[in-house]
Amino acid sequence: MVIESEHDLTALKKIGEIVAMAREEMAKSIRPGISTAELDEIGAKFLSKNGARSAPKSEYNFPGTTCISLNDVAAHGIPNSRLIEEGDIVNIDISAELDGYFADTGITLPVGSISPLKRKLLDCSLTALKKAIQIARAGVKINQLGKTIYNEATSNGFTIISNLSGHGIGRKLHDEPYDIVNYYDKWDDRILTNGVVLAIETFISNGGTYVIEEDDGWSLRTPNNKLVAQFEHTIVVTKSQPIITTL
Ligand code: CO
Ligand code: CO
Repeated sequence: MVIESEHDLTALKKIGEIVAMAREEMAKSIRPGISTAELDEIGAKFLSKNGARSAPKSEYNFPGTTCISLNDVAAHGIPNSRLIEEGDIVNIDISAELDGYFADTGITLPVGSISPLKRKLLDCSLTALKKAIQIARAGVKINQLGKTIYNEATSNGFTIISNLSGHGIGRKLHDEPYDIVNYYDKWDDRILTNGVVLAIETFISNGGTYVIEEDDGWSLRTPNNKLVAQFEHTIVVTKSQPIITTL
């Protein structure tokens, strides 16, 4: 969506803050031995306490409140009895709706001590997101976001997942502009407009280039079992620095 009023902005900030706080609640509960279902329950309780509804559940009938994806699963991991282990990297992706407005955020976290490679992968993906957000402003081509993410990945020796992308958001979870990819698409001549609301997502891997769907019908995994680190924020594009609703 493109924001048209002060009310739009206030409502987007409100749901943005709720998903950000749900993310932090879940993040501080990550430890070896907790199941992904228990972690999801923490997010579910927080959202319902604040009157927000899980977007993947309401929009797509996802079998969970949040998506929790471990290691080589890039997205849409189903919360279940799987126990989180020392050395895992855990992605939690939370999207929710309040009063007809949506926000979407993701973070990838280490469990206990992780290898230097995993550490570097997490740092690179977060830096890529920050750099893409930094350049996002009215008048900039959408393909510059992908270029920025791609350059950050490759300059660190990493790859990007080409069939996952960010998206517009606002009054729907997924809205125009669709397919904000993690690479430079020279044919994409779309330009960011003032007030457009985006969910920018980075999918950076140590060798994976695409994901395939698992037999569970949801989990998206690299076929070569390479790791993926995703980070995501919802932003409102302006003529200067964007407003990050999910900080
Ligand atoms: Co998300
Ligand atoms: Co998203």
